[in-house]
Amino acid sequence: MTKRVAILISGGGSNMVALAQSMTGDHPARPVLVLSNDPAAGGLAKASGMGIPVQAIDHKTFGKDRAAFEAVLHDALAAVQPDIICLAGFMRILGADFIGPWEGRILNIHPSLLPKYRGLHTHARALEAGDSHHGCTVHQVTAALDDGPVLGQARMPVLQGDTPDTLAQRLLPLEHALYPAVLRRFAAADLRPVMLDG
Ligand code: GRF
Repeated sequence: MTKRVAILISGGGSNMVALAQSMTGDHPARPVLVLSNDPAAGGLAKASGMGIPVQAIDHKTFGKDRAAFEAVLHDALAAVQPDIICLAGFMRILGADFIGPWEGRILNIHPSLLPKYRGLHTHARALEAGDSHHGCTVHQVTAALDDGPVLGQARMPVLQGDTPDTLAQRLLPLEHALYPAVLRRFAAADLRPVMLDG
């Protein structure tokens, strides 16, 4: 049975594009919705251009009422009955009440080698720490931020003279390789971790 995948974005959606482009042929999943918390997210036009249904729920219209935003988000997802939800550059923290009904079916990509550097500014923190390597992690989403079971990681060396920007630029292609590889296994109920070295 083909798995239905909803992808949540907040910006350009390069990871969403990589995921959507991977779901062809004998791939066990297909994208059914790309949804953004920002109506101006560039990824929405990219998804539309790929023939994927899109939706925007502007979190700013809910003010500080996170629960109201998450309730509308839940209903929008429930309407398309996803088997898997991929957070891909989605910049809103989702609370336990939202995660609960979907737990075990939500994936996220985080730009660090978790458990290092949960949260923001991961590239700068890796540089400040003098790490020899940096990378990205795909993990299952739980109520604890950037803390769920790891499904895959991609590593790369930190080079002399690297800045947060050069790390982010070199990391993005690894993200675009890792996330589709993890999704393909996850959609086939294969939870063996994907480990890539860039
Ligand atoms: C990427 O660095 C990703 O690691 C982080 O958001 C950034 C932008 O992702 N989660 P995208 O281009 O919007 O997919």
